Amino acid sequence: MSTVLCPGSFDPITVGHFDIITRARDLFGSVLVGVGRNNQKNYLFGDQRIDLVEESLRDMEGVTVSPIEGLLVDFCQERGITTVVKGLRFGADFDFELQMAHMNRGLTGLETVLLPAAAEHVTLSSTILREVMKLGGDVTPYVPPAVVRAIEARRG
Ligand code: PNS
Repeated sequence: MSTVLCPGSFDPITVGHFDIITRARDLFGSVLVGVGRNNQKNYLFGDQRIDLVEESLRDMEGVTVSPIEGLLVDFCQERGITTVVKGLRFGADFDFELQMAHMNRGLTGLETVLLPAAAEHVTLSSTILREVMKLGGDVTPYVPPAVVRAIEARRG
């Protein structure tokens, strides 16, 4: 058994993320979910993203959650983590993931394993969900209950 890192922005966490984390845990035994910061992105849920990931995964055995500060490779090295697992939906994901995977491997030798998203999740996108949410649409089928509650609290 080894611990792998499932990193992401999780803005917000979706059922697609949940599936990848579960499958990574089943494959490797233990998963650390890292809630990261991509400086190119403007987060809708800000630091609440971490609470929502924690709440959504609280009952999942073999899974822990941590914010990622700084470089992913440093975060992994400090914890003895040698492998990152990420979900892959379509070609555009692959192009970006390949760039990050090579950069991370070049920096410290950190390996990346890409898991194909489940067929029912390949079109699921946090970006589209955020837009639907902002405009008052119902995203209940696509996000864990904790996120539904957070959206309801925002709407008041
Ligand atoms: O869900 P995302 O937006 O694809 O997640 C991107 C994330 C957070 C995994 C990525 O931006 C990241 O690794 N951030 C940490 C800072 C870092 O190491 N950046 C260089 C990556 S090659």
